[in-house]
Amino acid sequence: MKKLVFATHNAHKLEELRAIIKHFNIVGLTDINCNEEIVEDADTLEGNAKIKADFVTNNFHIDCFADDTGLEVDALDGAPGVYSARYAGEGCSYQDNVNKLLEALKGIENRKARFRTVIALNINGEQHFFEGKVEGIITKEQHGEKGFGYDPIFLPDGFDQTFAEMPMDVKNKISHRGRATQKLVEFLNSMTTK
Ligand code: IMP
Repeated sequence: MKKLVFATHNAHKLEELRAIIKHFNIVGLTDINCNEEIVEDADTLEGNAKIKADFVTNNFHIDCFADDTGLEVDALDGAPGVYSARYAGEGCSYQDNVNKLLEALKGIENRKARFRTVIALNINGEQHFFEGKVEGIITKEQHGEKGFGYDPIFLPDGFDQTFAEMPMDVKNKISHRGRATQKLVEFLNSMTTK
């Protein structure tokens, strides 16, 4: 089976992908002994996904894909966007980020936002990008205990539960990452049937 690196140290993300991409041997950064920190200093999601995928392909000469996600809030001109992980500062917690965002939107009626995930795939000497997004609003208060990150304050359009209130399988079907991953999977499947 052809080896394909997913540029992550996150065991949970790897498990998820292994369950749906069956005809590639999906391995993580730890499996290829890539323990250096990859500096994600681009100012777009596409740029950061590309940095991670290219780092692996250039240094380890293996086909690879990498993802990057951000929460884009319209009233904040797209912030926190590519800086979503460290919105409240280096080393901050998910709760710090949630607090900062609720504070920034205090008194603002336009609460429209979207999660966007970009995946960069380097395969057979070519580069491909896949995007997934989910539109919604930022609630005024936190609801739910599930999930992570900004889940307790993100209410996807057409639903009456935040991402932190809905069962994980429901979130995964409609989420930014779920949709980008689905596009990646369709592409990889089509390659093997050509
Ligand atoms: P990453 O690129 O997957 O590491 O995501 C960057 C940041 O976006 C995370 O640290 C979270 O703060 C936020 N984020 C990404 N995906 C989700 C999600 O599904 N729910 C809530 N927050 C998320």
